[in-house]
Amino acid sequence: MARVISIGDEGGVAAAIAAAITVLAARRPVAIPTETVYGLAADATDPAAITSIYETKGRPRFNPLICHMADLAMAERHAVFDPISRKLAEVFWPGPLTLVLPLSKASDIHALATAGLDSVGIRVPLGFTASLIRAYGKPLAAPSANSSGLVSPTTAAHVDADLGGRIDLVVDGGPCPVGVESTIVKVEGGRVRLLRPGGVPVEAIEAATGLAVERPKAAGTAAIEAPGMMASHYAPRAGVRLNATEVFSDEALLAFGSGGITGMDDARLVLNLSADGDLSEAATHLFAYLKQADATGVVGIAVMPIPDTGLGEAINDRLVRAAAPRGLEGEEQ
Ligand code: TXA
Ligand code: MG
Repeated sequence: MARVISIGDEGGVAAAIAAAITVLAARRPVAIPTETVYGLAADATDPAAITSIYETKGRPRFNPLICHMADLAMAERHAVFDPISRKLAEVFWPGPLTLVLPLSKASDIHALATAGLDSVGIRVPLGFTASLIRAYGKPLAAPSANSSGLVSPTTAAHVDADLGGRIDLVVDGGPCPVGVESTIVKVEGGRVRLLRPGGVPVEAIEAATGLAVERPKAAGTAAIEAPGMMASHYAPRAGVRLNATEVFSDEALLAFGSGGITGMDDARLVLNLSADGDLSEAATHLFAYLKQADATGVVGIAVMPIPDTGLGEAINDRLVRAAAPRGLEGEEQ
């Protein structure tokens, strides 16, 4: 089983960084906390290390990995920044924004990490992971630390329950404060295109750039641009029913806000994503509550309507994937 070391343990962050570097140096993946979700990190320049990420997750290799950097200066050694992307990096890094950029010719990021594309997805995370990258000195490729087909982990316990038998080390940094994955955008020809809604609201990107962000024209269009979004699916075992206005007695309910709905008192389980109607709080709870509801063995999980603004856009994106008809779910990352 994986060793779990907490940054709150004696030795603190320094001991956790030392332990993580030992695993990275052995060309093995290590699970680490980021502000969005836990990542499964390995040296982005090392083909053996990257291969073990794909193997550990059962992830298809055509699906590129996000390369995490310590800061903008490190990112500029690996990618070519246009002025809009640089502005976004200055405003939102460190933080939950991934920029897809042309790969620099000088970059030693391995083609296995980018799935052979001439672009690279880069983000500068907050907190422990940035400190680890600074100490290690090289970019870390890291997808979410879950097996293909499962919801992303937002606690070390989620990671351990899923991948604990397959990895050496989980660094426990507590629950992830954002709770959904990073927003992914690509700037092309002076336009900002959304490839995946996430932890930075689209409205904030529009405010920072003064530009309207272009969303995918139809569901699934993003698949071509962000290969991992292709029919990707956050699959609980229970069926997921969105915009519920009533809940049945054999279902769990993910509530939102202070109002109630018909059947609430008889539901098998009620978990409120945010009683205050706060979308940031709801994002923090989303994956943990989906897992918790699923673990009760209910036939279905009903979800009350969530406003589609701010972080609600990322929440609804993940919920729609979770509710996708079975058999069409395809690959999750
Ligand atoms: O918050 C996050 O982004 C988390 C944490 C660990 O950083 N990571 C994450 O990684 O969600 P993953 O592998 O689960 O999702 C990465 C997404 C995939 O949809 C992938 O296709 C897309 O990023 N991606 C990576 N590189 C790309 C590229 N060059 N062009 C287009 N899409 C890319
Ligand atoms: Mg993922």
